[in-house]
Amino acid sequence: MKFERPRGTRDFPPDDMLPRQLLADTLRSVFESYCYRRIGVPAFEHLELFTEKSGQEITENLYAFQDKSGRRICLRPEATASVARMYANELMHLRKPLKLYYFGPMYRYERPQKGRYREFWQTGAELVGAAGVEADAEVIQLAVDCLDALDLDYRLSVGHLGILRGLLADHGVSEEKQTSLLGAVDRGDTEILKDDEDYRLISCFQDVSYASGVDDLGQFVTDTTTAVASAPRAKDAFAELSELIGVLEKRNVSFSVELGMARGLAYYTGMVFEVSVDGLGAQSQIAGGGRYDCLIETFGGPPTPAVGFAFGFDRLLDACFLQDVAFDRRIIDVAVAPIGDVVRFEAHAIAGELRSRGLRVDVDLAGRKLKAILSQASQEAVPCVVIVGAKDLKEGSVTVRDMRLDAEGNAAQRVVNREAVADAVYELLNS
Ligand code: HAM
Repeated sequence: MKFERPRGTRDFPPDDMLPRQLLADTLRSVFESYCYRRIGVPAFEHLELFTEKSGQEITENLYAFQDKSGRRICLRPEATASVARMYANELMHLRKPLKLYYFGPMYRYERPQKGRYREFWQTGAELVGAAGVEADAEVIQLAVDCLDALDLDYRLSVGHLGILRGLLADHGVSEEKQTSLLGAVDRGDTEILKDDEDYRLISCFQDVSYASGVDDLGQFVTDTTTAVASAPRAKDAFAELSELIGVLEKRNVSFSVELGMARGLAYYTGMVFEVSVDGLGAQSQIAGGGRYDCLIETFGGPPTPAVGFAFGFDRLLDACFLQDVAFDRRIIDVAVAPIGDVVRFEAHAIAGELRSRGLRVDVDLAGRKLKAILSQASQEAVPCVVIVGAKDLKEGSVTVRDMRLDAEGNAAQRVVNREAVADAVYELLNS
């Protein structure tokens, strides 16, 4: 019997997994440089966690089922709702602001295409218990630092849902209607929008943007302040966005402001942002996030401001490949070549010593000839081979070979004392 993978899922053979692991390591070190702490949340949750506040885009694409006890369960489509639930249930006593991050697979029943999968990975951060522009700026800066650590070219767009929601609310539009309108704006659903009376209140913002370092900030602020003058909530939200623009400009972050940005998730209340990369095709958005000040309260916690974002890990990796970000594909530092059966025990002992010094060491297990071991080592760019021969060993020595060729195309090797092998290997690798 032969089985195919379910649609929208992928296998990751070792060569594909390696860059994923290296990318995850880079993101982890940047997240931890901001003192975010890793958490885990379940791969499946009660269905209502996501139908409650996530919005149409998410609820339409849930992997939902009944378990054997008849509970309505779904695979997590994202992790922010789980983090808010976990905070409301058990993390409230921790010192705030609380800085959390996660990395793991998410599930959305979408139509698979390049960059869009049914099982995909996110690396996300949530900053819980911090209101205000400085917290918004920190989360954006965290995303920017990850992208800069990878040396990627990208476009960062910032918006503020308080402006759109404020305009609608100040004209008496219900929260439910606001959410469905913003969902339609995010999907670009012109069929729904074209005949909608309420949409006219915000349609004037659809194409209003400001590019940092290019456009005239004073003019942009004056024009927008005038446009929202009659809606107090929208006016306050724009004042906050203007402050954020000032902070980001001072930090030399390059971005654009898109006043019409809506975002697909319904829980956002304030600043929102997206990162995209040119050349990725239709699925060019590699990260998204924003402020969600009411979600924790909805899940039974106290009113708690929160802001966060998530990288679409798979798309971020595609962007790295597209822009030739170099990943160190070396997996073996030292290959140990036992020449003959009598030296096998000692070859493994040497490998053990090298591993205990932090090196990645592979011992030939196939009983191959030295020539074959050396040829494979050079194919796999292994920088050092330790050759353990019976005659050498009797005399208390082994051979350490530098696989990096000199100008004449030769590999240098030297015979070293058995006891000094680890030092000799270290010296070679650091030379
Ligand atoms: P989101 O925009 O739905 O936000 O997803 C974040 C990123 O996940 C997207 O920008 C995209 O790169 C990636 N992504 C989404 N769907 C797929 C898919 N089917 N295949 C591949 N990649 C995908 C959230 O999920 C929020 N929880 C982010 C957040 C955290 N907001 C506040 N805190």
